[in-house]
Order: sequence, then structure tokens, then C-alpha cells
Amino acid sequence: MKVLVTGGAGFIGSHTTIELIAQKHDVLIIDNFSNSSLEVIRRIEKISKKTCEFLNMDIRETSKLIAVFEKFVPDCVIHFAGLKSVGDSIIFPLDYYDNNFLGSLSLLKAMDASGCKKIIYSSSATVYGEPKYVPLDEKHPCEPVNPYGKTKLFVEEMLKDWATSKDKNSAIILRYFNPVGAHSSGLLGEDPLGVPNNLMPIIADVAIGKLPHINIYGNDYSTRDGTGERDYVHVVDLAQAHVAAVKKVSQRDFDVFNIGTGSGTTVLELIEEFKKASGKKISTNFVNRRMGDVAISIASVEKAKDELSWSAVKDIKDMSSDAWRWKIQNMTE
Ligand code: NAD
Ligand code: UFG
Repeated sequence: MKVLVTGGAGFIGSHTTIELIAQKHDVLIIDNFSNSSLEVIRRIEKISKKTCEFLNMDIRETSKLIAVFEKFVPDCVIHFAGLKSVGDSIIFPLDYYDNNFLGSLSLLKAMDASGCKKIIYSSSATVYGEPKYVPLDEKHPCEPVNPYGKTKLFVEEMLKDWATSKDKNSAIILRYFNPVGAHSSGLLGEDPLGVPNNLMPIIADVAIGKLPHINIYGNDYSTRDGTGERDYVHVVDLAQAHVAAVKKVSQRDFDVFNIGTGSGTTVLELIEEFKKASGKKISTNFVNRRMGDVAISIASVEKAKDELSWSAVKDIKDMSSDAWRWKIQNMTE
């Protein structure tokens, strides 16, 4: 299939591009490189041993985008491009509505103009808000508590309306839980700008000596050891979930799938696993809970297993050792 990948130079998009190429799909990446670099394209080519077609452009440039769709004529779009920091979205909400919502609107306009009818969309477990029960299934109410989560939910709603508006329009929403890890080659991984906000990149920075210690946000949650529990999913498993969705998208008008492992790991458990993977000391410091954090977030993964024939196969050990390999091979100041 011809697959147009927005945000394909980013963390999840680059790993997905590798899996798509491995399955013989013909890929075109569109990325404005606001949170990635041309080096990622070079590395995709190194791993896949194929030329990686890409365009440096913003998905909000609708008329340029229509011209790209008319030339490439994709069968399907996978839409990763967007902003993803919960904290920034609270400080700069309009940037999030502009990029995430208007970017997606522009993309759908280009799809309509050129007759492209299939899309897979990157959503997030953050759309659920405070869990009323765990594991979270796809029927759990969606009540996002920050602007980032709202943009994700609003785009889901827009896609639902778009998918039902015309025969043959199809959209699959993938709600990721906590993507971590890196490609086993050590050539691709997560490269956050500035000081990272998420647990795994912070642990890696402490292990390598870039940060002195990790602040653990709260030790009084109702979990096994009092620290926050999450469903971490390896980015390569996540990438393969997109390939599975591409196979199924034409059989659906609109559908939503959780993408996780179905099991949880606490902050302390992840630190222990990373110590083993790296052989390094990781200093910790308990501090107050972080505002907006929930105690537990775990996916119900039955629907993805039954209907996409996809399940995660990699565990916390793989996630830690791959993230560590990526870190030591790509040390930056
Ligand atoms: P990322 O920042 O690494 O990748 C996003 C890519 O999109 C970057 O390469 C960036 O340069 C590009 N981009 C941003 N705005 C663009 C625009 N207007 N036009 C063209 N390119 C643009 O992020 P990621 O972790 O790979 O996340 C991909 C998607 O998955 C995002 O939509 C994110 O909201 C969603 N998601 C991520 C996580 C996570 O923890 N990483 C969790 C749930 C959902
Ligand atoms: N944590 C710490 N110390 C840190 C960073 C995190 O103790 O320095 C803890 C958090 O309190 C939480 C756990 O580690 O208990 C995981 O935190 P992350 O920031 O890695 O992940 P979140 O679950 O808070 O959020 C992530 C993404 C969101 C996304 C959400 C659901 O950052 O964008 O998963 O998909 F919406």
C-alpha cells in the first residue's frame, strides 16, 4: 500500500516507518522537523536499507498538502504530527489547538480533495482523564483534564464525523498508553528537546550521569509500593500495531483501540529494571505528587488482540535495555 506518514521523523513515526517498509509498503513522510531532525531520515535508511522519501513541510499548509496528495496518491494516512507535552499545553493551549486540531483539519481537507479515504490516528490514554476503573477499556468515559488531551479527543470526534459522512471513509484511532524503549539497533529512539518530562528518558539521563537523581512524584498512591503505576509499551510493538491497523482500516468506518500491554509497572519497579539493564546506580528522591497525575493507568487490550490480531510481545526488560542502548550510543550534551 502507499502510506503517507505525517510526523514520520518523530519517535513513534520513525519506528512505524521502519515496520511499514519491512512489510513492503511504499512510504512518504511529511514532517516539519520541529521536534526531530534529518538525521532520523538517514537512520531509517540505514536500518531499512531503502531510500526514505520525505518532504519537509507543515501539515497546516493545506494547498501544498493537496498537491502532495495528488502526486503521491496515498491509499492510507498515518497521522502522528502534532505537539505532545501535557505541561506545555496548559501554558500554550492555542499552540496545541492550532497544531493538533487545525493540523488534523487541514489533513482531512487534503484527503477529501484528493479522494484518500483511510486514516490511522495517534491518540492517547490521556483522553480518558481520571480512571473510574482499571483496566481502562475503550468504553471508559472520555473526560480529558488538560488541553493536550482535549485536542486529541476533539480530533477523534472530527474523525468520527468525517468517517460517517461518506461511504468508504475509514478511520482507526489508536489510544497509546505509555510508549517507551527504542529500536534494537540503537539508531532510533526518543530524543526529547531540553529536560525530559517522562519517566523513562529521565531515568536514562540519571543512569548516564546527566541528571543527579530522579524525583519520584509521590509514594502514597494505592499501588503495590505507593508509586504511580503505568502500562509501558515498547515503541516497536506500538509501531507494529499501526501496521496491523493499516491492514484492517478498510473493514471499518470508525473504530478505537487501546494500545498497551495490559499490565502495569510502578515507578520503583521501572527504576529497578533500568538499574539491571544499565548496571548503573540510579539515585532517587521522593517528592510530592505531580499535579494532574493519576495513581494507575492500565489498558484493557482485548479489543486490539481480537480485532486487530495485535498484542505487545516486548516486556519491561526489553524496553529498559533498548532505551539504555539508545542512550549510550547517542549521548548528547
Ligand atoms: P514526536 O514529537 O517525536 O513526533 C511528532 C513529529 O511530528 C515530529 O517529528 C515533529 O517534527 C512533527 N510535527 C509536529 N507538528 C507538525 C506539523 N504541523 N507538520 C508536520 N510535522 C509536524 O512525538 P511522538 O512521541 O512520536 O508522538 C507521535 C504522536 O503520538 C503525537 O500525535 C502524540 O500526541 C501521540 N502520542 C504520543 C505519546 C508519547 O508518549 N510519545 C503518547 C500518546 C500519544
Ligand atoms: N514520574 C516520576 N518522576 C518523574 C517523571 C515521572 O515519578 O520525574 C512518574 C509519574 O508521576 C507517573 C509515572 O512516572 O507516575 C509516569 O510518568 P510519565 O510522565 O512518564 O507518563 P504519564 O503517564 O504521566 O503521561 C504519559 C504521557 C502523556 C500521555 C499519558 C497517557 O506523557 O502525554 O502518558 O498516554 F497522555
